[in-house]
Amino acid sequence: MSHQATAIAHSNIALIKYWGKRDEARMLPMNGSLSLTLDAFYTRTRVRFFPELGEDHVRLDGRALEGEAARKVSRFLDRVRALKGHEWRAEVDSYNQVPTGAGLASSASAFAALAGAASRAIGLELSPRELSILARKGSGSACRSIFAGFALWQAGTDDQSSYARPVPASNLDDLVMLVVVVNAGHKGLSSREGMRRTVATSPFYPAWVEHAERDLERMRIAVLEGDFTRIGTLAESSAMRMHATMLSAAPPFCYWEAGSLLAMNLVRQLRDEGHECYFTMDAGPNVKIIAREATLPRLRAALGEHFGEEALITARPGPGLRIEDAEAPEC
Ligand code: ADP
Ligand code: DP6
Ligand code: CO
Repeated sequence: MSHQATAIAHSNIALIKYWGKRDEARMLPMNGSLSLTLDAFYTRTRVRFFPELGEDHVRLDGRALEGEAARKVSRFLDRVRALKGHEWRAEVDSYNQVPTGAGLASSASAFAALAGAASRAIGLELSPRELSILARKGSGSACRSIFAGFALWQAGTDDQSSYARPVPASNLDDLVMLVVVVNAGHKGLSSREGMRRTVATSPFYPAWVEHAERDLERMRIAVLEGDFTRIGTLAESSAMRMHATMLSAAPPFCYWEAGSLLAMNLVRQLRDEGHECYFTMDAGPNVKIIAREATLPRLRAALGEHFGEEALITARPGPGLRIEDAEAPEC
């Protein structure tokens, strides 16, 4: 019997952000969040368990992962091994079709794919909810990448109540995210470190938590009703409030670059001219513009005057986790 499986998971961008943990050991967030899984960015991961192997070997894009990045994967595999009661070590081969560590949620697609591939390879049959709980322990945002389209991660109060689920949507099939790649390089401060520092030091943080749950419920209803204006307005304000908590941390930090500000200003200008669009940003300099299909050509033209064609990636709602038993090598 071959103890191997391959999984593909897509990254997701939050419209209401997760920023801060209530319990780091259990990976429980301070507040719930709501995201859109994207078609354009994904991770493909193959896991092979070998009973005779002495240690885990993890490769990302064909190169051995080392240090903390490799340890994170091994610790995650420890959880999978504990669920099954095996000690087997694994060969992990992962390929990111998403810039790694650039604020485009590579940790989300990575740990959702790893949860799928590792659990199947070791012989576990997990439900979507169980997969979401498992993926959360690798990276919080990964619990949402189990699902297609819009997903809501309820904060929960303990391990078993903190997971994501799909949220019903109407009239949003033409929603697009135009991703402006300002810088695809790896961030200097990981999301994990950034949110840890924010929770510990920002005097604005309690206000963030107070507003987040209320905004989450508003967003859930806006998605249900297909109220694009409300979705965009809420998403933009969730992102700005999150970044305000970073600016007010000690020491303060900021993921924005000059190009980020340029893109944000262009969005505001286009909106003033009647081309309805909104932006969101994560822990990185890249800007995601929320729009509808009909507005896309105008947006691409306006952004194209300042950014290269290759820096403008159109993303649409994407699929949930797929797991295959068969061998699937390099993508
Ligand atoms: P991002 O904005 O890309 O999610 P994070 O700071 O949350 O940035 O996470 C980036 C980290 O996630 C990487 O430094 C690495 O440790 C981990 N990671 C990303 N992709 C993979 C992968 N395919 N396999 C294993 N770990 C990964
Ligand atoms: C700004 O899920 O990457 O993208 O749970 O520590 O792995 P860890 O962090 P991560 O944080 C994502 C933060 C965010 C907002 C979001 O995706 O909700
Ligand atoms: Co991440």
